[in-house]
Amino acid sequence: MTDAAPLGVWSAPGRVNLIGEHTDYNDGFVLPFAIDARTAVAVAPRTDEVLRVRSSFDETPASVPIAGLDELFASAAPASVPEWSTYPLGVAWALRHAAGESASAHGLDLAIASSVPVGAGLSSSAAIECAVAVALDELWNAGLSKRELARVGRTAENEAVGAPTGIMDQTASMLGETDAAVFLDCRTLETEVVPLGLSDAGLEVLVIDTLVTHAHSTGGYRERRASCERGAAAMGVAALRDLTLDDLERAASVMDDETFRRVRHIVTENARVIETVRVLRSDGPLAIGELLLASHASMRDDFEISVPELDTAVEAAMVGGAVGARMTGGGFGGAAIALVPRDRVAEVTDAVTAAFSASGFRTPRVFTVRPSAGAHRDDPGGASPR
Ligand code: GLA
Repeated sequence: MTDAAPLGVWSAPGRVNLIGEHTDYNDGFVLPFAIDARTAVAVAPRTDEVLRVRSSFDETPASVPIAGLDELFASAAPASVPEWSTYPLGVAWALRHAAGESASAHGLDLAIASSVPVGAGLSSSAAIECAVAVALDELWNAGLSKRELARVGRTAENEAVGAPTGIMDQTASMLGETDAAVFLDCRTLETEVVPLGLSDAGLEVLVIDTLVTHAHSTGGYRERRASCERGAAAMGVAALRDLTLDDLERAASVMDDETFRRVRHIVTENARVIETVRVLRSDGPLAIGELLLASHASMRDDFEISVPELDTAVEAAMVGGAVGARMTGGGFGGAAIALVPRDRVAEVTDAVTAAFSASGFRTPRVFTVRPSAGAHRDDPGGASPR
């Protein structure tokens, strides 16, 4: 135990997904961007071989000997540590495995604080994972790239936390850039930075947090994943990414209606992501509104992951003057985004708030986000990974 001065401060952002929902674990395409709400981790040295994590989410710290991480995560979601601590500790465990012999793990105190709202579908979990991953990578001399660190974050989430999520959130949090989205091919993990040009177009991205809580590790998310796997098996492909719009007619004849609608969402959503990238490049962000709305309708009707609050948010935002809107993230609650002309932000906010009140829903939290830089070291003490 030590109260030594910090070795440094590292941080990573939450993310908003512009379009491409539930496509990541189907080897498909996504277009998220990192936001200007971040999770920071301050790290201090210790004289023993223990990792201690504290956070602003929970008073209770968790301490684990580094040598005990394998045993702790012999199965997911161990009950012996607080749930939130499985994110940072899971990253330490996954990073040691990814870096192998090259990592020189030694004891550290980690203090985590976050401005990313929890449970809003803005990937507060990826922000923790990526902040801790860049910190440990540097302090343990692991030498991993940002892409490898994104995979470390996903491994932690899948195997230590036990949530069966894809690679989108960690990639956005690691590789995000100011004023741009990250176009990710989730099969090859190749990325392209796509400039969004929001301020030139006079647009803001409004987040409407419905305050309806969601949990990926249980229920709906897992079921949707299973439906997608069933659909791919029925079509004889490795992943739904391998299907195109032309395959849908055959798909309708070889699976039950519900599975078919899940498949149709993924296939059409992949096409919409590619189209959104094309339209952004040719015509700019004012032209993508219809694609966002089509994405929302597909999630509401075919994938069935929306809730009345999210549908209301989208509809009211359009009435208030948004260019386009859709729910973002895993669904079953969380947030919607709306692309809004700067001079209509107040009107859209009022329209959404009034519609929620009229429906008897809790007053939503409405705020703007800016596409921002990915994970990095905050203090000038050293260099973050590539
Ligand atoms: C959550 C998961 C992601 C992705 C989205 C849905 O955010 O963490 O991997 O599957 O849901 O697009």
